[in-house]
Amino acid sequence: HHEIPDDVVSLLRVARRVAVLTGAGISAESGVPTFREVQKGLWERFSAQDLATVDAFESDPALVWTWYRWRQSLIQQVEPNPGHAALARWQKHLTESGGTLTIATQNVDDLHERAGAEVLAHLHGSIFSHRCLGCGSAVELPAPQYDGFESPPSPEDPPSCSACGGLIRPGVVWFGEMLPMDAFEATAEAIRHADVVLVAGTSGIVQPAASLPLLALERGTPLIEVNPEETEISEVMDYCLRGPSGQLLPPMVDSLKR
Ligand code: APR
Repeated sequence: HHEIPDDVVSLLRVARRVAVLTGAGISAESGVPTFREVQKGLWERFSAQDLATVDAFESDPALVWTWYRWRQSLIQQVEPNPGHAALARWQKHLTESGGTLTIATQNVDDLHERAGAEVLAHLHGSIFSHRCLGCGSAVELPAPQYDGFESPPSPEDPPSCSACGGLIRPGVVWFGEMLPMDAFEATAEAIRHADVVLVAGTSGIVQPAASLPLLALERGTPLIEVNPEETEISEVMDYCLRGPSGQLLPPMVDSLKR
């Protein structure tokens, strides 16, 4: 199993304000594919970057809409993994002793919440929210129930807005779109005031989310990365714990108790 270096443990034991930034990697062990791994089934000929854009949606609404409905169904059928649970446990432990642990995620799934954690910011929105492409009004829709997710569903058209007749789109932030500034600012503030910043499961490719950890450098706040691979932001990290978050985060949090 994975050992957490002693200097990381002693650092985390005294941390009172922890800021965590997560990406798709933290949901990988739950069975939610990350963005930069090859897709399966019907979607294998598309990359996420091809589907997660306004242009893709406008040129083929049914394809993009169905991809999101399929992913909603997939996310509903998987469970949070020990990595999500460890962060929720750590957050509870810190809050009870007057500290804070904030979670800002690039993920559009609700696995942090389902593990019992409070999420400060969903920087790229939520896959379970929808809004009208025309008038922008939020639209509640029941999630689809596709059985399994190996056999992707046949494309279905997005519904139309009852207010203006426009197309309903997924409530996520697509490539090239601005992310919600309140979410960004809240995350920036949390990082600026943190004793330690933990970055787990993100490739550090997509801006501006990937630049948030760099704010820790302003005050020399220690940066810890949890990722089996080297990333675009590994070079600014004080510690790089090379392994899956589902295997590293539980012993990391357990080590705080002893
Ligand atoms: N534990 C931790 N990290 C993991 C694991 C794991 N079990 N498995 C994979 N990873 C790492 C990969 O090494 C990679 O660095 O997770 C990262 C996933 O990177 P991406 O797929 O690029 O996901 P992310 O960084 O969240 O992408 C950012 O890009 O596609 C857009 O909006 C989308 O929010 C997404 C954003």
